[in-house]
Amino acid sequence: MQPIHAPYPAARPRRLRRTPAIRALVAETNLAPSDFIWPVFVREGEGISEPIASMPGVNRLSVDRVVEAAREAHGLGIPAICLFPYTPPEKKTRDCAEAWNPVNLSNTATRSIKDAGIDIAVMTDVALDPYNIDGHDGFVEDGYVVNDRTVEALVKQALSQAAAGADIIGPSDMMDGRIGAIRAALEAKGHQNVLLLSYAAKFASAFYGPFRDAVGASGRLTGDKKTYQQDPGNGDEAMRLIARDLAEGADMIMVKPGMPYLDVIRRARDTFGAPTFAYQVSGEYAMLAGASERGWLDGERVMMESLTAFKRAGCDGVLTYFAPAAARLLNG
Ligand code: PBG
Repeated sequence: MQPIHAPYPAARPRRLRRTPAIRALVAETNLAPSDFIWPVFVREGEGISEPIASMPGVNRLSVDRVVEAAREAHGLGIPAICLFPYTPPEKKTRDCAEAWNPVNLSNTATRSIKDAGIDIAVMTDVALDPYNIDGHDGFVEDGYVVNDRTVEALVKQALSQAAAGADIIGPSDMMDGRIGAIRAALEAKGHQNVLLLSYAAKFASAFYGPFRDAVGASGRLTGDKKTYQQDPGNGDEAMRLIARDLAEGADMIMVKPGMPYLDVIRRARDTFGAPTFAYQVSGEYAMLAGASERGWLDGERVMMESLTAFKRAGCDGVLTYFAPAAARLLNG
């Protein structure tokens, strides 16, 4: 597209910015509650809403409260909620069996939302880290996170989530071949309409810190996740991984984290044109919410600006802890 440049004063681009009405008329990017997926942390108990220190304004919710949150989200026009379990330490094991327990926290929450008849899509997370005594997304053997044995476990986990009623399954583990393996298993077990939103381009990021607190994985992690998550400098590799996951049966793809990777989002969108999502992760939330809490940033404005930027970069939607607050603001 060639920019049109009439000479000044024929062109006065500021004319298009003079009033709110004119700015709204020519806005290229509009945000709506339907752009959001709301990640929520689930814990055991009843009637509990427990604050997370490193994520001001975000709470771990007991299942009954998750159902209320889902109802609230639906009322706000948010189309999807994403569940992350806070697994009690005694249920974390070397074999990670809790990951495919049909009545684990994630599956119980999914079923409860579905049983309540709330018309919201439930997304679940596939990875072993909430259940692993090592804090890793896969099985550790001789200090290395092994791929193929982990994929077998991820398949069992995904099938348990589909059986519980998950609409969207989000493999966040970054093992090779898991999308194909999960897709084949879903087909074989009659879950052909379950969507796969692949965390296709997931970088080994320090911005996940508060999340690991939220799910109780921080103290446990031995080493880092660099043998499976991507090097933050690798954009070409991100394109190869997205191509691979789409070929293996992903319906939608994600880039994660979000704000430092807007270039990757734009490339993904332009290259593949597939439904593209970003995860504005816990550390991004903590930066904005923490600085706002201290009065260093205007919380509402940085929230809306950051979310608008994701859409401008090419996202169809954003996983964001700001989902209910942003939706409330958008709904006026
Ligand atoms: C791990 C997982 C992580 C997040 C979602 N799934 C953290 C990690 O890879 O260590 C991070 C989300 C966030 O930071 O908000 N399976």
